[in-house]
Amino acid sequence: MDVQLSELPRHLLDWYKTNARELPWRISPQDRERGKRPDPYHVWLSEIMLQQTTVKHATPYYVEFIRRWPTVRDLAKANEEEVLSTWAGLGYYARARNLLKCAQSVTLNGEFPADPNELIKYPGIGDYTSKAIASIAFGKPYVAVDTNVERVFSRILALDQDWKVAKRTNREFVSQMVPADLPSEYCQGLMDLGATVCTPKQPKCSECPIQKFCRAYQGGDVESYPRKPIKVQRPNRYGQAFFLVDDNEVLLERRSANGLLGGMLGFPCTEWKSNKTLLNENRLQQYAKADWQPVGEVKHTFTHFTLNLAVYVGHLQDERPKGIWKPISKINGLPTLFKKILTIATTSSSFVLFE
Ligand code: ADE
Ligand code: SF4
Repeated sequence: MDVQLSELPRHLLDWYKTNARELPWRISPQDRERGKRPDPYHVWLSEIMLQQTTVKHATPYYVEFIRRWPTVRDLAKANEEEVLSTWAGLGYYARARNLLKCAQSVTLNGEFPADPNELIKYPGIGDYTSKAIASIAFGKPYVAVDTNVERVFSRILALDQDWKVAKRTNREFVSQMVPADLPSEYCQGLMDLGATVCTPKQPKCSECPIQKFCRAYQGGDVESYPRKPIKVQRPNRYGQAFFLVDDNEVLLERRSANGLLGGMLGFPCTEWKSNKTLLNENRLQQYAKADWQPVGEVKHTFTHFTLNLAVYVGHLQDERPKGIWKPISKINGLPTLFKKILTIATTSSSFVLFE
């Protein structure tokens, strides 16, 4: 290792002392010096939420979870539907179900373990999260390398490798340099630097505490790191969603536990297929007798495909089909896809509310 590089953590830690972001799950460097320690429950919950979500988007959800379930024991007693509807909008709903399972296991075993090899055995905790909890909650000498941290080190080392190889190099390199006394501050300092200074576009190199170690900066081409993975094209899928209204109530269904958005509330849909099919009037009337009108399309990106759903609004003209009927003004706990459908349906000119 470069002789100088061993000095990097110290510069980063100095910067973190005065630049740490204030986050509701975080113990500030000053409070830590006074002996305050984070609650592992808070750290775990925040890390699960932040796996696929930005700090800004996740924060209100975090606050609401802690308000409803102040301890892991409280969360362990929650029912799944309530957890899912509080999670609604954060996406990746398997995470919410694992969250509850994990809370139950931890409660059964007494408390969160500090060893990442133990943490990783719990539902929803993978390599990254186990290291983040061990480091941030328990001060163990690990670094959780997220995309922010990867970006910082790809630039520091000016890694020309393919991104997958670079990922491995990064991990090895970052973990060699964990300062024994403050692994948690080092880990969070790297996350904050990546989020606020060493940003993907136009990083603020002039404010960067580790600029003198940065090979990409010396080379004058910081934005070209990390080398980009080749973009995968997401295939499209198509389907129709039904917004069936009766007496100012709308028909919802609970989705099956196994599929996408499993266990969540949603509007009834046709199957999501790879080719676009049109619904003729007959098919619509077979589904339910109503004054069906197309009101537009919603697009929603999942990990492996983009979904295009044509939305139909209809006012029921027959017996109510089975399902969950809810007053339109009282619908909550919908995942984002179905919120989009609710918006497009209720703002369309075909939608009529009765006094
Ligand atoms: N991103 C993921 N985990 C984080 C944390 N603990 N603090 C700030 N940003 C994060
Ligand atoms: Fe990132 Fe610039 Fe700092 Fe290098 S000098 S680590 S590119 S902010």
